[in-house]
Amino acid sequence: MAFDLVFHNATVVDGTGNGRITASVGVSADIIEKISTTGDFDGHQVVDATGLVLAPGFIDAHAHDDNALFQTPFMPFKISQGVTTVINGNCGLSLAPLNSLENAPPPLNLIAKNGKQFFSSFESYFSSLDEAPSSVNSVCLVGHSTLRFSSMENLDQPATDREISLMNTDLVRSLEQGAIGLSTGLFYPPAKAAPTEEVIELCKSLVSYNGIYVTHMRDEADGVMKSIEETARIGREAAVEVVISHHKCAGKNNHGRSLETLAKIDEIGEYLNIGLDAYPYIASSTMLGAGNENRASKVLITWSDGMPEAANRELSELVQSLGLTAGETVERLMPAGGVFFTMDENDVQRILKHPKTVIGSDGISGYGHPHPRLWGTFPRVLGHYSRELGLFSLEDAIRKMTYTTAQRFGIQNRGIIREGAFADLVLFDPKTVIDTATFDSPMQEADGIHFTLVNGEITWTNGRHTGARSGRVLRGRHV
Ligand code: ZN
Ligand code: CU
Repeated sequence: MAFDLVFHNATVVDGTGNGRITASVGVSADIIEKISTTGDFDGHQVVDATGLVLAPGFIDAHAHDDNALFQTPFMPFKISQGVTTVINGNCGLSLAPLNSLENAPPPLNLIAKNGKQFFSSFESYFSSLDEAPSSVNSVCLVGHSTLRFSSMENLDQPATDREISLMNTDLVRSLEQGAIGLSTGLFYPPAKAAPTEEVIELCKSLVSYNGIYVTHMRDEADGVMKSIEETARIGREAAVEVVISHHKCAGKNNHGRSLETLAKIDEIGEYLNIGLDAYPYIASSTMLGAGNENRASKVLITWSDGMPEAANRELSELVQSLGLTAGETVERLMPAGGVFFTMDENDVQRILKHPKTVIGSDGISGYGHPHPRLWGTFPRVLGHYSRELGLFSLEDAIRKMTYTTAQRFGIQNRGIIREGAFADLVLFDPKTVIDTATFDSPMQEADGIHFTLVNGEITWTNGRHTGARSGRVLRGRHV
């Protein structure tokens, strides 16, 4: 018999961290049917994969593609990197469950351009995605800030008991409908006033659904240790697994402190299931006006509604040319987003290398001048950090983008190459794979990605998108 598609003589890296083998892999429909080192089987389509690596499709552990799945369903910035699944709903921000608003207030405007893009339930969000599929698979967390917007009168205060119970009702319904956990963005204004106890009360609802708690912590700068302790307390008291999002030590004072933070995370790991994700850059990116501009050595404006022509300019330049103070300039630009150079390369490398760290882009699309992580994260880890710097082996790099991520987030039968798993696959050249997106020119396809398959459909080949939209909504956390 012949398979639909065969990769002959590929260097197969299965995602688990196991060493590479040379094998042929047969795919039929959406399943990896056969892996053989003898390779004597046929396909309706055969790809000679000599010298190329076949890996599980990458899983973006930290995405904000909630709305991009509708706005840019071909998802070229992910597919061109070999990403086949995204984890959305991060940093406290999800499109559901929330009735439409007048407009989308910051930081919800990172995922929604207007108030009509929200969904009153995960059921309606997911079924809209089922009806208009994108090119990637997606799973989604429930955003704590979204819950707050939907249930609270005054976001500058802790939630009352009644508001907590309203949020819990929404959260439980969302989990029943397939959301995989709760995310917070305790750093951001809509959630800043939430005490630890509010989050613990919500996290208790996760337990019966195997839900996970994922957090953009209250403080990633001077208070980073306290924030890690807060995260551990939430996990311990609610008895849930936790993930620290885009772990970093921001601001010059804190450079080098990943030695402390990672030791703390290891210590917590003795009694709590804890994970973390990171992206391979020394600059972050989010809304302007939340304080990041004060501890960055340089700020690049990514977009501005107040002054659209400011995109791609440096904040310090704008301060000069406008003759305003930094604070006044920020006011003038808002609502706006920026790229903030706040990290130290040694910390970035130490964090990427930690065995629990998985790779998440934190990319935000839909703006003229995004952070290059949106188009470059995964090939950069492979090409720059693994091949060029030798920070970790290719097998380990791939593990951090596939199997470990799938295990952490409860994604079944993906993130691994084995017979019977879903055929989410990427074929790339290990000698040339590299990101080309830069801070100056951030919207550029990576080099070296030959094929991306999503549920068995060839979606990227020879530097072009095939138009396939075979992505699925993956409901529930399976552990
Ligand atoms: Zn975040
Ligand atoms: Cu984020």
